[in-house]
Amino acid sequence: MALKRPRIEGYAVISREGMIARNDGSFPDEIKIEADHKFYQDSVDRASAVANGRHSAEGGPKEKTRRRIILTRRVQRVMVDPNNALAVLWNPGTAPLEEAWQRLGIEDGTLAVVGGTDVFGLFLNIGYDAFFLTRAEASVPRGRPVFPGVGKDVPPSEIFTKHGMVLRDTRTLDAATNTVLEEWGPK
Ligand SMILES: NC(=O)c1ccc[n+]([C@@H]2O[C@H](COP(=O)([O-])OP(=O)(O)OC[C@H]3O[C@@H](n4cnc5c(N)ncnc54)[C@H](OP(=O)(O)O)[C@@H]3O)[C@@H](O)[C@H]2O)c1
Repeated sequence: MALKRPRIEGYAVISREGMIARNDGSFPDEIKIEADHKFYQDSVDRASAVANGRHSAEGGPKEKTRRRIILTRRVQRVMVDPNNALAVLWNPGTAPLEEAWQRLGIEDGTLAVVGGTDVFGLFLNIGYDAFFLTRAEASVPRGRPVFPGVGKDVPPSEIFTKHGMVLRDTRTLDAATNTVLEEWGPK
């Protein structure tokens, strides 16, 4: 029987130029927006599990209680994280997502993908069912982009379009800071 895959949702907050972090990996204060933080935490709460690179767990008091897929090249096979029984370590170079998902033991559900850059990029190819992109107005001109290739001349919209995704909805998350939430989905 074919292994199941989850519904896949992406979540990122970006600067005007499409950056999720500074060059040193730190999270810029300029794009810390309370309304987005609440939207993000509520969304990961609703998900059945979270997928993240080693430095991009969502934080907050519930982080340790969530089921999780941690991407790492340090393992060859999907295995339970020796430091966290609720998490599996997954190397996408050696096993498909479905194997990591099956190991979490969730029948049907949603996987919230929360970054960083390479992880967001990898899931573009696996296929998002929805990507929630929070656009802050603040400028962080250089740093780590939401997807590989995003930069001065390449907006995230170009990357979504290249991967067959369309803008489904736009709404204001926080009028005071002019922060907008875009929902992208498959055509
Ligand atoms: N603004 C936002 O929405 C947002 C979202 C997420 C993160 N961030 C920020 O961005 C920073 C990003 O950190 P980061 O660039 O270090 O990214 P990261 O994805 O959190 O961590 C990178 C590590 O994840 C693993 N990894 C990533 N892609 C992989 C792949 N395709 N296959 C196997 N393993 C993979 C590797 O771990 P190993 O070294 O173990 O092999 C890699 O060293 C965070 O510190 C956070 O501040 C911001």
